[in-house]
Amino acid sequence: MKKIAVFASGHGSNARKICEYFSSNPHIQVVLIGTNKSDAGVLNHAKDFNIPTITFDKKKMWEQNFIKENLMPFGIDLIVLAGFLLLIPPSWVEHYPQRIINIHPALLPKFGGKGLFGSHVHNAVKASGDAETGITIHYVNAHYDEGEPILQVKCSVFPQDTPEQIASRVLKLEHFYFPRTIEKILLSN
Ligand code: GRF
Repeated sequence: MKKIAVFASGHGSNARKICEYFSSNPHIQVVLIGTNKSDAGVLNHAKDFNIPTITFDKKKMWEQNFIKENLMPFGIDLIVLAGFLLLIPPSWVEHYPQRIINIHPALLPKFGGKGLFGSHVHNAVKASGDAETGITIHYVNAHYDEGEPILQVKCSVFPQDTPEQIASRVLKLEHFYFPRTIEKILLSN
């Protein structure tokens, strides 16, 4: 059995899709949901799917024993960041090389980096006048949004679109492609 941990800071709609997608998979299982927000929507999804949770703050993530005490007991094969807003410490990247992935709601390297998350991304896309945006699924390194890309999928941006309309078009792509990409990565390793 391949084991996934999903980390999210907000609504967790991607986390929910991932839990749904793998809920009856005989080879892949979501074993842990992590968050840095005690009121994050993702905690409700974890309850619905009966998945253990962990809530921690930024400081805790950087503690030397964090991985050993909180993650290693779960035997995690892949850490999936689905709207997780904190920077991943280098010790995590060393411990899980090419085994932490993130989804970004734009076509990196455009519209990425510190401060470019959630609605900020779609506002920036709208302001740029670009005719297309999309999603990037990428490996995580110790810098925001800079790891090696795994998959990019594009969609149109129409001149009359609001940032909310752009966000909703992009989110549909995320919900479809993220679980399938996770599956592909895990089954090819
Ligand atoms: C998604 O757009 C994801 O790309 C970004 O944060 C958003 C999270 O949405 N990193 P949700 O919490 O999964 O609904």
